[in-house]
Amino acid sequence: MKRQLIVAGNWKMNKNLMEAFTLASGVLVKAKKMSDQVEIVLAPPAPYLHTINSMSKDTAHVNIAAQNCHFEPNGAYTGEISAEMLHSMNIAYVILGHSERRKHFQENHEILAKKVSAAIKAGMKIIFCCGEPLEVRASETQERFVLQQLEESLFHLTEVEMKQVVVAYEPIWAIGTGKTASPAQAQEMHQFIRKQLATKYTPKLADACSILYGGSCNPSNAAELFAQPDVDGGLVGGASLKPEDFLQIIQARAKQT
Ligand code: PGA
Repeated sequence: MKRQLIVAGNWKMNKNLMEAFTLASGVLVKAKKMSDQVEIVLAPPAPYLHTINSMSKDTAHVNIAAQNCHFEPNGAYTGEISAEMLHSMNIAYVILGHSERRKHFQENHEILAKKVSAAIKAGMKIIFCCGEPLEVRASETQERFVLQQLEESLFHLTEVEMKQVVVAYEPIWAIGTGKTASPAQAQEMHQFIRKQLATKYTPKLADACSILYGGSCNPSNAAELFAQPDVDGGLVGGASLKPEDFLQIIQARAKQT
């Protein structure tokens, strides 16, 4: 089974309007000339989603992701954005479970499970992030920790719904720190996640599910991470803010096929 290769750029809360458009066009100009073997996902801040989605409309292998959504479809939730709204703007993906949302916005398993359901119900695809903090890695209990994240917030989905999910393994100690998981550490966890998907759902579903690595992924480490059999691509933060770096990471993914 050939899995979809994906390189996603999570811009987080960065770039003003002009900078965001410059970054998006810098990536899009080059992406148009690339083969479509790697799906490119851009996750800009919410105010830019609509325009950047329009800019990318004629490049089929580029999709846009929101960085968050609320779990209700509408209502008195000042400042929030629903999955329904995002879907009505033709935004393909929403990132859920990112460790920064878990940490700074108190998104626990229960809230995330509701967001996951809401996004699927609205017709969106999800990039679901999981990953352990340093102390969990130090105590070698990272598999149990990640399994709990999957069980509590994702595994309530049916098999059909689960096909709309991409999993991103992002060890918290590697996010924005310049420290990357070694290719072996990434492979070990990706293989573990795939095994859990096979056990909970079916080997066929597990085999088809794209699992991305995130955490200080950059042009110099991307190739060796992507060379691992269960690493299908990357969720890139810092390096996605520089078009040259991001494009090099996409090229590294394309070369490994
Ligand atoms: P980083 O962020 O690449 O800057 O470590 C990754 C992420 O948070 O998705």
